[in-house]
Amino acid sequence: MPKKYENLNKPLKIGSVTIKNRYIVAPMDTAPSFLGPDGEFTENGIEYFVRRAQGGFGLIYSGGQQIDDVVDKNPKTILKNPGNYIAAGQELNARISAYGAKMFLQLCFGLGRNLPGLHAPSELPVWLNPQMTSPALTREQIQTKIDLFVQVAGVAKQAGFAGVDVHALHWGHLLDQFAMSITNKRTDEYGGSLENRLRITRELVERVKETCGKDFPVTIRLSLRQFMKDFDKASFSGEEEVGRTLEESIEIAKLLESYGYDALSVDSGNLDAYYYACPPSYMESGYMIALAEAVKKEVSIPILVGSRMDVPDLAEQAIAEGKMDGVVIGRPSIADPDYANKVLRDQKEKIRPCLACNQGCIHRYLTVGSVCCAVNPEMGRGITYRMSPALAKKHIVIVGGGVAGMEAARTCALRGHRVTLFEKSGQLGGNLIPAGKHAFKKEVGALNDWYQTELKELPVEIRRNEERPRTRLAVSGQMLSFWQQAPRP
Ligand SMILES: Cc1cc2nc3c(=O)[nH]c(=O)nc-3n(C[C@H](O)[C@H](O)[C@H](O)COP(=O)(O)O)c2cc1C
Ligand code: SF4
Repeated sequence: MPKKYENLNKPLKIGSVTIKNRYIVAPMDTAPSFLGPDGEFTENGIEYFVRRAQGGFGLIYSGGQQIDDVVDKNPKTILKNPGNYIAAGQELNARISAYGAKMFLQLCFGLGRNLPGLHAPSELPVWLNPQMTSPALTREQIQTKIDLFVQVAGVAKQAGFAGVDVHALHWGHLLDQFAMSITNKRTDEYGGSLENRLRITRELVERVKETCGKDFPVTIRLSLRQFMKDFDKASFSGEEEVGRTLEESIEIAKLLESYGYDALSVDSGNLDAYYYACPPSYMESGYMIALAEAVKKEVSIPILVGSRMDVPDLAEQAIAEGKMDGVVIGRPSIADPDYANKVLRDQKEKIRPCLACNQGCIHRYLTVGSVCCAVNPEMGRGITYRMSPALAKKHIVIVGGGVAGMEAARTCALRGHRVTLFEKSGQLGGNLIPAGKHAFKKEVGALNDWYQTELKELPVEIRRNEERPRTRLAVSGQMLSFWQQAPRP
């Protein structure tokens, strides 16, 4: 391995578990097709995670999995059929470990006011539906949820997961609603002081360790600043914060360490301040480092940092300077499963850039319920849409060197066809050229650069400054890419 990213390449200890490098796939709930009726990983889901292990990530988090089918009804809960869950989990973990990767299962304590019909700490306005109210949890219901969580952690261990992640003191989900004073108006032992607001978070780690053993790692996501002005209102500057301040986060981080958590996975924002939670391209890469550093100074457990951590040089430097320990990569790992290997082998120019557009992933997730990607057509369809050699090799003529034509040319060449690409102007890129001109859309320009680097290395004949040939067999770039996306038998 080149020396350039030697800190990113160093192993990291999380509790008793050693991770082979500093690159971590962020927890992301992705395709419904990844989970079967009992919440077990399907073949498609297993393929998705194995592909990221093959791509060099040392640690992989699952997306948040539901634990509760009693207090809040969730369709796919692990306890419905633990035998099924364990069988699929063991296969997943065996295949991931073949690449030297480890996987932690993220367990979702609840979403509270973020979805209609679910329980919250106190009666609260539902996110984006203020005319609706979430009912408050009773003390008995809280205990039921904790019991279910602990049982599921036991199943996770049997399924071969190397640890669990508690979801989450972030994005304003249920535990976060307990932790923030604006959403917790309780007067019992779960409300009031910071320690009371964190009581469930404490019980979860203590009880999981009792059940799974002290050396079974438990991590937690923690938003270091909420950037929230009011319900459903963001404070972009953070000046009118009614959520969590950095000062309070530092106190929380110290408490979490004392409760027994093995690492903190930090980000910022919540659903009310969505701009920070799933940052678009307008947010500067690396903005989390300064926040993470403030917490890192105060605790000795590893600090894993996510959200726009897509510039490897910034991450390498921050680890070298002791400001953080691990890099949590979300959307860029959807866009390019080989992200980690490409950085660690010093081949950054080969990374297919995530546009931070949020269109295929989080927007689609919140509106349609499944995830695809603007730049990675294989996302979520790892089995049905895998790049495979064509049985009959053909000469394919593509007309138009815009993004669709370039993707079609790349795919056809990778599948073994001979490809000629006609572009009537002198430049490939089409609409990517004007779209990538703004500084805040630099990822779009980077995508154009990436296509051109890829096409140079593939057997694609590029004919610039030429109109379409006079043949009925030529297909336009857009037609071909449409045809390629059609489902295959
Ligand atoms: C489709 C999608 C689903 C997500 N689901 C989860 C989840 O289940 N649990 C979680 O902690 N974060 C979830 N996140 C947040 C990501 O882990 C991450 O914090 C966010 O994408 C910002 O990081 P990035 O800039 O590296 O993408 C999700 C994000 C996306 C895009
Ligand atoms: S849809 Fe856009 S933001 Fe989401 S992973 Fe793909 S390129 Fe990135």
